[in-house]
Formats: sequence, structure tokens, C-alpha cells
Amino acid sequence: MLTDRVVFVTGGGRGIGRATALAFAAAGARTVVAARSVDQVEAVAAEVVQAGGRALPLVCDVTSGSSVASAVEETGRHFGPVDVLVNNAGYVESAPLTRVTDETWNRTLAVNLTGTFLCLRAVLPSMVERQRGRVISIASTAAEIGYAYTAAYCAAKHGVLGLTRSVALEVAAKGVTVNAICPGWVDTGMTEESIARIVRTTGRSADEARATLEAMNPQGRLIRSDEVADLAVWLAGDAAAGVTGQAYNVDGREVAPS
Ligand SMILES: NC(=O)c1ccc[n+]([C@@H]2O[C@H](COP(=O)([O-])OP(=O)(O)OC[C@H]3O[C@@H](n4cnc5c(N)ncnc54)[C@H](OP(=O)(O)O)[C@@H]3O)[C@@H](O)[C@H]2O)c1
Repeated sequence: MLTDRVVFVTGGGRGIGRATALAFAAAGARTVVAARSVDQVEAVAAEVVQAGGRALPLVCDVTSGSSVASAVEETGRHFGPVDVLVNNAGYVESAPLTRVTDETWNRTLAVNLTGTFLCLRAVLPSMVERQRGRVISIASTAAEIGYAYTAAYCAAKHGVLGLTRSVALEVAAKGVTVNAICPGWVDTGMTEESIARIVRTTGRSADEARATLEAMNPQGRLIRSDEVADLAVWLAGDAAAGVTGQAYNVDGREVAPS
């Protein structure tokens, strides 16, 4: 159980973030549900409370240092310092590299990579001071191998893994672990958008597009959000105290270790 922990989940309003917030709350943690859409973070926090847990919905844009700082301060006032940071907020668009606009490049890097950096920098001093902390970043198999037409996303997620490995070493002797989870295709709104994009650009049906994504996983299926969430809960627990600087694939072995 994680009853004495304060968990801060970015992108907690839907998809993997929602499942992660619910899983941590079910494990007894006080859970902050942070994202930009107020209706979504409030809905997830209400679900947590409905299930008997404790949650704080916060509007937070991870691309803004001041927004992240305010959310971390508000967490401190309400629940106390953050013990577990789950960097889950993410954004993807697909296009051939020569059609990637400055705006898409900057936004993709800002949400996935800079957002992870800003949240880490905001919570790490207190974790180090208290010799207690867990950071779990939801990266992607796109952090480990390249995929065509998503160069900005792959670059950003590769960066998340580099950040994870580097910071893990910096704080290894300070009671803080830093790890990443690399899912394959997960059954969320982000994947639904990818399916819609494949339909638009190839003329395939939605069922065919979904089957193509499922076939990328040797298990022939999409990963469920709760599979990712449960691994995050394990990484935050006492049993994972010796695990740091690692990337865990949840992908049915879509990616073989190099
Ligand atoms: N779905 C997949 O197949 C898959 C596979 C591998 C890895 N992942 C990664 O898993 C994570 C979650 O993905 P998902 O599938 O659950 O995506 P999703 O359903 O699109 O949810 C993304 C979440 O990120 C939040 N977000 C986006 N921009 C933000 C910002 N600037 N500040 C704060 N929050 C922001 C969104 O909320 P607002 O828009 O309200 O801010 C939303 O809550 C992402 O990092 C994604 O890259 C997903």
C-alpha cells in the first residue's frame, strides 16, 4: 500500500493518466490529477473520491514552468510534498519530417520532453532533502526505436529516456529512484486519433487501421491503460527500491532489447 504517499500525475484527465490516478488512489495514495482540461481532471478526481480515495484536481500546463511550480505548491498546501511524480502528459502528431512545422516540433518537444524536465526540476529538491522520492515517466517504445512519420515524438521520447538515465544517477544515493515505462500501442484516445489519421491518409477502414496497430504487438492486441498504471504503482512501492534508471517495456515484445 502507498497510504502515506502523495502522487502527482500529469495528464491525469484521461487515458493512461486517468488509469494511473485511479490505480494510485486505490493503493491508498493521496493523488493529484493534473492536466489542462479542468472538466477532465475534476471528473477523474470525482471518480477517485467516489471509490473512497483522496484526490486533488489541478489545472496544470506542463510546458510552463510557472504553471508547474504553482501546481506543486498547491499540492504541498493541500496534501504535502510530492513523493511520487508520474510524468504522463504527452502529445503526438504524425507527418513526414519535411512537413513537420516549427509549431508541431516545438509543441511535441515541449509537452513530452521539456514538460518532464520542468516537473522533475520542481519536485526533486524536496525529494532529495527528504531522501524519499519516485519518478516514473511514461515514455514509449518510440523512446527506444524510430518509427516513420513521428520523428518529433521519437526524438522527444528518446530524450525522456536520456533524462531518466541521467537523473537516476544524480540522485541514486539520495533515496530517489527515476524510471521510465515504454508502452506499445495503448487503447486510449491518443491511439484513436492515430487510427483516424491512418483512415484519413490511407483510405483504409478504422477496423483495418486498428488491426494494423494491433499486429505491431506480437501479442496481437492493444495494451490496456491499467497494465501501464499497475507497473507505475509497483515502481513507486518499497519492492522497487533498488530499481532505478530503467526502462520497462509494456509492449508484448514489440521491441526487442538491443
Ligand atoms: N496511447 C498510446 O498508444 C501510447 C503509447 C506509448 C506511450 N504513450 C504515452 O503515454 C502518455 C499518455 O498517453 P495517452 O494515450 O493516455 O494520451 P491521451 O489520451 O491523449 O492523454 C494525454 C494526456 O496528456 C495531457 N496533456 C497534453 N498536453 C498537456 C500539457 N501541455 N500539460 C498538461 N497535460 C497535458 C492531456 O490533457 P489536456 O489536453 O487536458 O492537457 C491528457 O490528459 C503520453 O505521454 C503518451 O505519449 C501513449
